[in-house]
Amino acid sequence: MSDIVQFIRDLPKVELHLHIEGSLEPELMFALAQRNKIDIPFKSVEEVRAAYDFGNLQDFLDIYYQGMNVLRTEQDFYDLTWAYLTRVAGENVQHVEIFFDPQGHTGRGVAFETVLDGITRALDDGKKKLNVTSKLIMCFLRHLSEEDAMQTLAQALPYKDKILGVGLDSSEVGHPPSKFARVFEKARAEGFLLVAHAGEEGPPEYVWEAIDQLKIDRIDHGNRSLEDDILSERIVQDGMALTVCPLSNLKLCVVKDMQKHPLKKMLDLGIKATVNSDDPAYFGGYMNDNYIAVATALGLSKQDILTLARNSIEATFLDDAGKKRLFDNLEAYALKAA
Ligand code: ADE
Ligand code: ZN
Repeated sequence: MSDIVQFIRDLPKVELHLHIEGSLEPELMFALAQRNKIDIPFKSVEEVRAAYDFGNLQDFLDIYYQGMNVLRTEQDFYDLTWAYLTRVAGENVQHVEIFFDPQGHTGRGVAFETVLDGITRALDDGKKKLNVTSKLIMCFLRHLSEEDAMQTLAQALPYKDKILGVGLDSSEVGHPPSKFARVFEKARAEGFLLVAHAGEEGPPEYVWEAIDQLKIDRIDHGNRSLEDDILSERIVQDGMALTVCPLSNLKLCVVKDMQKHPLKKMLDLGIKATVNSDDPAYFGGYMNDNYIAVATALGLSKQDILTLARNSIEATFLDDAGKKRLFDNLEAYALKAA
């Protein structure tokens, strides 16, 4: 095994861009379909994996929303989240900030509380039993209306102790951040931290809108920001982090091949880029695989990898004590292994 692969596997890591519904592995999909007596249009795990061949974001989203249909009970959401946490704990991921898509569930009759209770019960166990700390971010589906997002925000208000932030995901092109400016203004006034997917498929203007109109604290993806030099400079000046997802970018054809991935360019520009998995069950890899794929393709050094890991810690929504704990672990590792 190459030195850099071992270095990545042993590296203490943080994940900041993970859709919990995108961690639904085909094996669990089948088990939940059986448990809940739901028909799914696949005969085998192999058939499911063969369907994961996407030309763009929408191809993926169609199958992602179909997949989440097997999630019905509080225990289903617990099992989904617990499977993700045990998996990443085994990869030395120490802290996660994860997304969930309540409208993907309430829209098919599953109660908001069923989703939230299952996820948060697993997150609590993750802290107690796996020593993985976490924060939860609720995303609005941008292909739905502003009014639908407002109603979803209202549902979250009693649970500010469980939901730290709000985000924006789903079909980007045609649904600019400005569509949700009022929702984000209200969320900010209520004290939620703010993130948004922007510049994944959408143009740099969407990233400008996310920064200036939504007033986000962190950008999810942000790849296309590099097409605009002034925007790139602004991102550097603001110290705004980008939650980059290399294998997702490859699977959704945001990049043609990994050697053309903009991550190294982001680092060279001084952008606070981070590595994340997005929807690992659909894109073929969790944290280690994402780091390894991009580091190998771009020839990243151990110092580059440490910069990425430090960026992730700085970009967390943890308080200073929480960040310090992670930094101490990382710097001890860097001294030993670099
Ligand atoms: N929902 C889940 N994964 C997503 C992605 N990569 N982009 C937009 N919405 C998503
Ligand atoms: Zn995403």
